[in-house]
Amino acid sequence: MRIFDTHAHISDTRFDIDREALIDRLKEKDVELIVDVGCDLRDVSKTLELTERYPFFYGAVGMHPHTAEYFGPEMADGLARLLERPKIVALGEIGLDYYYDLSPRDVQRRVFDEQLSIAALKGLPVILHVRDAIGESLDILRAHKRELIENGGVMHCFSGSVESARECLELGLMIGFGGSLTFKNNRRGVETAEFVPLDRFVFETDCPYLAPVPHRGERNDPSMIALVAEKFAEIKGITPDEAADIAFKNGMKLFRLG
Ligand code: NI
Repeated sequence: MRIFDTHAHISDTRFDIDREALIDRLKEKDVELIVDVGCDLRDVSKTLELTERYPFFYGAVGMHPHTAEYFGPEMADGLARLLERPKIVALGEIGLDYYYDLSPRDVQRRVFDEQLSIAALKGLPVILHVRDAIGESLDILRAHKRELIENGGVMHCFSGSVESARECLELGLMIGFGGSLTFKNNRRGVETAEFVPLDRFVFETDCPYLAPVPHRGERNDPSMIALVAEKFAEIKGITPDEAADIAFKNGMKLFRLG
């Protein structure tokens, strides 16, 4: 099996105690590529450091909806400069989060829209975080449809209906599947996996969060994608190796690697 974790936060402080040792072990667990997502632009140094130090690490940077209120004009300039770096392959994660509502909704919408424009200007794919806000997110995304179809993107940890998934595909996006696919009673996830075409999905952890069953609640890491691949493969009637391999290739295409 070869694993591409398209959405990890190895830069998170929860990996401070054993980050190096963990990374050293990943290769023997079939993890060959990782995109580390630095989603608070006030400090993405750890993500940059990982991409510089390890050949198999790439990075994404952007302002998460949680901290959208701290995004100002200077930060937009800084973001544009970061996106020039060769190992920064996407802008994200960005979007709307009306579940936690940590930044005012009007600010979330404005900052989301502004960052979509920056991604378009740079010709880069986007990583999208949407929670309890799929309708308004799709409205904003539709306004950027032309660039999205051209540059691509991924709906990370998708939790919407099949109907929303269909709309995402029409916008040129891929669907990201992670640990939540393995959770009991996640009917919607299973339905979305049944529906998604084989050339339009990727695997991700969102680690340290969202560890798959039977590790739910523990600290997640990229090697656990093997369990997501197993579940996805079962739904699709293919082998876990095939699922991981297709996801790997889709991820390479999404982030234009290799
Ligand atoms: Ni994330």
